[in-house]
Amino acid sequence: MPLTQDQVRDALKRVKYPGFSRDIVSFGIVQQIVLQDKRCSVNMTLTTGDTKIADQIRKESEEVLRDLDGLESIVVNVNAHAAVPAGGAFQQNQVKGIRYAVAVASGKGGVGKSTVSVNLAIALSQLGARVGLMDCDIYGPSIPLMMNVKTPPTAENDKLIPITSYGVKLMSMGFLMDPDAPVIWRGPMITRTIQQFVHNVEWGELDYLVIDLPPGTGDAQLSLCQTLPLSGAVMVTTPQEVALIDVRKAAAMFHKVNVPILGVVENMSYFLCPSDQKRYDIFGEGGGQREATRLNVPLFGQIPLEIAARQGGDTGVPLMVSGAKSTAGKAFLQVAENLRKRLP
Ligand SMILES: Nc1ncnc2c1ncn2[C@@H]1O[C@H](COP(=O)(O)OP(=O)(O)OP(=O)(O)O)[C@@H](O)[C@H]1O
Ligand SMILES: [Mg+2]
Repeated sequence: MPLTQDQVRDALKRVKYPGFSRDIVSFGIVQQIVLQDKRCSVNMTLTTGDTKIADQIRKESEEVLRDLDGLESIVVNVNAHAAVPAGGAFQQNQVKGIRYAVAVASGKGGVGKSTVSVNLAIALSQLGARVGLMDCDIYGPSIPLMMNVKTPPTAENDKLIPITSYGVKLMSMGFLMDPDAPVIWRGPMITRTIQQFVHNVEWGELDYLVIDLPPGTGDAQLSLCQTLPLSGAVMVTTPQEVALIDVRKAAAMFHKVNVPILGVVENMSYFLCPSDQKRYDIFGEGGGQREATRLNVPLFGQIPLEIAARQGGDTGVPLMVSGAKSTAGKAFLQVAENLRKRLP
């Protein structure tokens, strides 16, 4: 019995994407399997310029195919294109009309990614940029609430029209999900949904598309980073070492898919006590700077704990709207200015 494509594909499922638990087939890397007599050739495409990853996938794929009976010749082609051109220039976005797509990421949940995404987006628009905000947090989209958007977007000519709030065009996965339905987001589904999400939204002309990623560094995040045409990522961390361990994992993930880290934002850096004006380093200090130094990127800013920042999240009036002149507000503005320096 000659081998079938399914048998070859099943064998390739034993190859994991280096460093991840998911296999290369479910990742969508395997593009074509050609079987002719006893010859087999496989074409794969990677969105990373990291030749080590390409080599490892090629080697392991050849190994599993050699284990199959009845093949005399095996050719595995792995096409790896860098998402970033050599020379370190930041990639302009491939989605029409969008200049830069910037992911806001962290290894750990609850460090203030969504708060930073919302206030960074508003700060950029206050600086005069045209800004979109895309909420990709498939586990718990919170941005519509934070941006005080309650109505779902409308569609025109098969395209979703983002809702403008506080000068920012907003689109959220939350709009597309039934809040009561338990959704099992399997990797391939996420990739497809995100692709539709990116390409079927009528963003118009944007200077920056800020993207709030889900927390963690698992397969879902890797899929997102492979699917979204990212110019770079902003890492959010809190000052203590525990959060930094996770931020390093996230940085390693971006490195794998060749998305440059643009800078670090340290959130919940300190608390300025209104009664004694003293600064309290509740979560330790210096972590953001240490991480920025290690990654060889700038520390974009340190955002203090501010009651209005938390209230803003709950009431739908972000800090950059209610308290732009506060210490935290000024810190967000500085983050926006520093980002704009990196992506002019
Ligand atoms: N600088 C700050 N000062 C005060 N509260 C803050 C600050 N940053 C974030 N918060 C609050 O901390 C909580 C977590 O923040 P946020 O939801 O932005 O984190 P996240 O990283 O997006 O979380 P998740 O991982 O669940 O998506 C929220 O209640 C938010 O209002
Ligand atoms: Mg969030």
